[in-house]
Amino acid sequence: MTRQQVIDFLTSGFALANLPDSFMQLQRIANDPHSDIEDVVEVAKRDSELAASLLKLSNSSLYNSAGDEISTIEGAAQLLGLRKVVESSLALGVIKKIDIDSSCLDLCCFWKRSLAVATLSEDVYLATPRHLKTIVDPKLLYTAGLLHDIGLLALVQGFAPEMVRTVETAIAEGLPIQEVEYREFGFTHQDVGRILFKKWNLPEELQCVAGYHHNPIELRRRLFYPLVDLVYIADYICCASSRQPVSAFKPKMYEEVWRRSGLSLDMIDSFSDRLDEVVASTEAILSC
Ligand SMILES: [Fe+2]
Repeated sequence: MTRQQVIDFLTSGFALANLPDSFMQLQRIANDPHSDIEDVVEVAKRDSELAASLLKLSNSSLYNSAGDEISTIEGAAQLLGLRKVVESSLALGVIKKIDIDSSCLDLCCFWKRSLAVATLSEDVYLATPRHLKTIVDPKLLYTAGLLHDIGLLALVQGFAPEMVRTVETAIAEGLPIQEVEYREFGFTHQDVGRILFKKWNLPEELQCVAGYHHNPIELRRRLFYPLVDLVYIADYICCASSRQPVSAFKPKMYEEVWRRSGLSLDMIDSFSDRLDEVVASTEAILSC
């Protein structure tokens, strides 16, 4: 696997070589302060798969404890609220487009973790000091968390045998996967994610998340590192609280990142109850 082979695959072979239209429309809605729930309903009405998923989500026990049947997109949107509809739609729009050989990577686990990191990134943001809140654009947090590891998925889809060997080596040697990737190929899934985000014209902050989520201290763009730090911390909390942490995917501890984010390591324990709720929510989305 060479860098050029990967770039060729990202351009033509990857299922998400181009983002779904509805994703781009929802991304615009999420970033427009004047948008409202009607805008989302319009997008969902033109995407039957998305509409069906939102109906199923709004009838799930997690979001519909009263058990009233929701049969219209408008009803679903009203019940879930603008933010949840946009976030779930963004997630579903991407998740449904990708299929890979499950013997290489457990896709359900992958998306559970990505969705949990997306939601936790927003929670961690709320706990940061005010001066950092003004630097980070909160609307980017969910997408940043959801797609931070998209480079890994692309590599598994395009180069499964090499990635299976890489994961096995990382586990056998007790090394993080990105270190083995760099040793074997000269680049990592972070580089691949950054290239994809750039190709999709996603904002530069998001490109930094894809490119530095495992080693935020190496990012030199001071303006962008608060967002990268938040996704790193959310990922760390998810992993630390996981019942079966796999060393190859476990983030390294960078105390400096926690310090400069104004957050305490005690947060890992205090978020464990919240994580149960988050996991239930990710399961509701994934069962759609
Ligand atoms: Fe990663």
